[in-house]
Amino acid sequence: MNVDLSTRYLGLTLRNPLIASACPLNQDPEFLLRLEEAGAAAAVFPSLFEEQIEFQQQQIFGLYEYGTESFAESLSYFPELEDYNVGPTEYLRRLRAARDAVRFPLIGSLNGMTVGGWIQFAKLIEDAGVDALELNVYFVPSDPRHGSEEVERRYLDLVTAIRKAIKIPLAIKVGPYFTSFGHFARRLVDAGADGLVIFNRYIQPDINLETLDFFPNLALSESYESRLSMTWIAMLRGRVGAYLAATSGIHSVEDLAKILLVGADVAMLASAIYRHGPDHFARLEAGLKSWLIEKDYASVQQMKGSLSRENCSNPEAFERVNYMRSLVAYTSKPI
Ligand SMILES: Cc1cc2nc3c(=O)[nH]c(=O)nc-3n(C[C@H](O)[C@H](O)[C@H](O)COP(=O)(O)O)c2cc1C
Repeated sequence: MNVDLSTRYLGLTLRNPLIASACPLNQDPEFLLRLEEAGAAAAVFPSLFEEQIEFQQQQIFGLYEYGTESFAESLSYFPELEDYNVGPTEYLRRLRAARDAVRFPLIGSLNGMTVGGWIQFAKLIEDAGVDALELNVYFVPSDPRHGSEEVERRYLDLVTAIRKAIKIPLAIKVGPYFTSFGHFARRLVDAGADGLVIFNRYIQPDINLETLDFFPNLALSESYESRLSMTWIAMLRGRVGAYLAATSGIHSVEDLAKILLVGADVAMLASAIYRHGPDHFARLEAGLKSWLIEKDYASVQQMKGSLSRENCSNPEAFERVNYMRSLVAYTSKPI
């Protein structure tokens, strides 16, 4: 039976809704080719970080040796970051090589948190030939004097500045911790975002009990983590005027079907690629096709959003009543 797996994201027509999420694997042209052959519809190149750009600029101007207060701490991590430890010039060279190697859409990625000179790299990434740009704002508002408006303003100013600098479509990747995420999402779209990538996984540091020190402890995600994106995509579908990409915890055909049912235009995977390799895309594509046939859907387009809050026959599933019901109905006994 013929089913149409195609979807649209950031103005691009994709063969299916499966995108390789930003991670260092995707900077290798051979790896990108394997992703393309396995059926990934597009890939996001790993991010160029604000700190990487500032690091090079500090070196050029000889400032780094003196240590600048604001950046000294983050810059000191750079010698340890092997995969990311290339300057922007080398980064752009790798991006152009990747662009030449594959035919599927390639999305560039910039990662930062302050409006500054580094934003000019959005244009250089666009000039490297990418089809769209993803802006990842990873900002932990650790200063208790900063209120929510100030924090949101930071994101909005970044989107406005980058929107001005480029012509290609722009998506913004954010975390879930906002006072009223729906309202904030609309503001991001008003500022110029064409797509929202929901959600960044915040990496909490761990403690080494021997050395009594913090250390970064990146664990790959698990399927249950996709429920946070699922909940919010369900709530935003049809209400914010932007393409919606889901990221975090999408591993299986079931995870994929659920995220599309609530209204994601695409699913972005990173942990699943680390666990299962690029061929996982072929399995997911075939599995999604079988699932659609089994459920009598003719296309991804037809199923997309059928369980969003707008279309759901049971909208209280997203609200307090469901929370109460889940707690009250929980029956497992202690051992
Ligand atoms: C090793 C690794 C490196 C990553 N590097 C980036 C990056 O450069 N830029 C970015 O926006 N996200 C990066 N991410 C986040 C992923 O793109 C993705 O959003 C996140 O891991 C959640 O998806 P997952 O559950 O499929 O892993 C990285 C993730 C991993 C595991």
